Amino acid sequence: MIRNHIAPKLSALDLQFARAVPPGGNWKDIPESVPSQRLKQIRESYARGEGSRSTYYGRLHPSQPSYTISTYVGRPGNGCHLHYEWAQLRTLSYREAARLQSFPDSFVFTGPLTAVSKQIGNAVPPLLAYWLATSFGRPGNLVDLFAGAGGLSLGFHWAGWKSLVASDIDEHAMKTFVRNIHPNVVVGDVREEDIRNRIVELAASGDSRVPKVLVGGPPCQGFSTAGNRRSEADERNLLFNDYCRIVEAVDPDAFLFENVTGLINMESGRVFERVSQALRSVAREIVVWRVSAEEYGVPQRRKRIIIVGFRKRAAFQLPHGPLTNGLFGGTPISVLEALGDLPALVAGENGETLEYVTAPKSDYQSLMRGCTSAQSYIAALSTRGSDVDSLTELPDPINTGSVRRRGKLASS
Ligand SMILES: C[S@@+](CC[C@H](N)C(=O)[O-])C[C@H]1O[C@@H](n2cnc3c(N)ncnc32)[C@H](O)[C@@H]1O
Repeated sequence: MIRNHIAPKLSALDLQFARAVPPGGNWKDIPESVPSQRLKQIRESYARGEGSRSTYYGRLHPSQPSYTISTYVGRPGNGCHLHYEWAQLRTLSYREAARLQSFPDSFVFTGPLTAVSKQIGNAVPPLLAYWLATSFGRPGNLVDLFAGAGGLSLGFHWAGWKSLVASDIDEHAMKTFVRNIHPNVVVGDVREEDIRNRIVELAASGDSRVPKVLVGGPPCQGFSTAGNRRSEADERNLLFNDYCRIVEAVDPDAFLFENVTGLINMESGRVFERVSQALRSVAREIVVWRVSAEEYGVPQRRKRIIIVGFRKRAAFQLPHGPLTNGLFGGTPISVLEALGDLPALVAGENGETLEYVTAPKSDYQSLMRGCTSAQSYIAALSTRGSDVDSLTELPDPINTGSVRRRGKLASS
């Protein structure tokens, strides 16, 4: 079974959009004859010079990494979510979105499909988390706040860390966490004292002779440049105060705070200053990095900031990702390398009982299918060249039967 290989349903209008957009294309490929108020607004704001929105109604390009996987993977108009083969008139399946986030196929997302989409889009790619985890050296015990489905925890587990407790307000995400990672979870709102106390109690249960790291970042919507709720007054922004309270009570050797890069510029940098001040107050030293997931072997362009607060252990710098080593850097993993062995679907189809179409054809597919470990995968990445040509031919639009060389790319 290929769990979560389910293609979201599309409306008749969405199917018209899908027919018009080639691999690497976007809303600009949709003719004005397709009736859409939203597209009309996008065209008008583009004409006024208010941003190109180049990922909207985007179709993935097989030889490129994907754009950021959002929590709305089933909506063509909310990002670059259309399947890379033009003949497949659909968005990514939930399994495909999970793969682009580097969750292996054995990791099963549970709950209604909207909840599944949220868990996948919200996650830190486990491969990126694995790479971060290795920077902490000797593995120890882990506390995961705002844990979601557990992207951060999974990466730390791959590096040998053990969970003491994870917490989140979302019960579907916590069910996914329990199913795939660890049973010790606290479901609830960290602003409630009782919830914080339960987390702290479970976090004290581990062996005190091994290192303890607390990971997690409060939700980012309030900070995100993508949303329109980007205000310092947004109540969720204050969750970092609860985060700091828990850090003090759990007293880990270090903590890792993850968030969207929009946090840095919000309110002309004032929000970031407040967050860093709060984090500095519970650490001896903090270090801030901006990371791009595709440099760490994830087939997705996803930028995040990572702040590590050092309390008891010596500070370190985060090494560059394996694909940034060398003069020109390595070629990021492409969508085709990531998804090429998964069976075709039509919109709305549940393909969980279908078979893989081939044996794993790339190191990434081997990782996804449990044939190789994160450690071996990352080791192989560092020898990957900068000129890997993962694709020479693209299937052409529906029914023409001809073959076309590399479709055009959406500008970023
Ligand atoms: C960006 S996601 C975390 C993703 C996670 N680190 C991962 O790697 O999968 C943020 C999470 O914060 C949770 N959250 C939001 N408000 C919360 C609150 N008041 N208390 C606890 N969790 C909350 C959300 O349910 C969401 O799962």
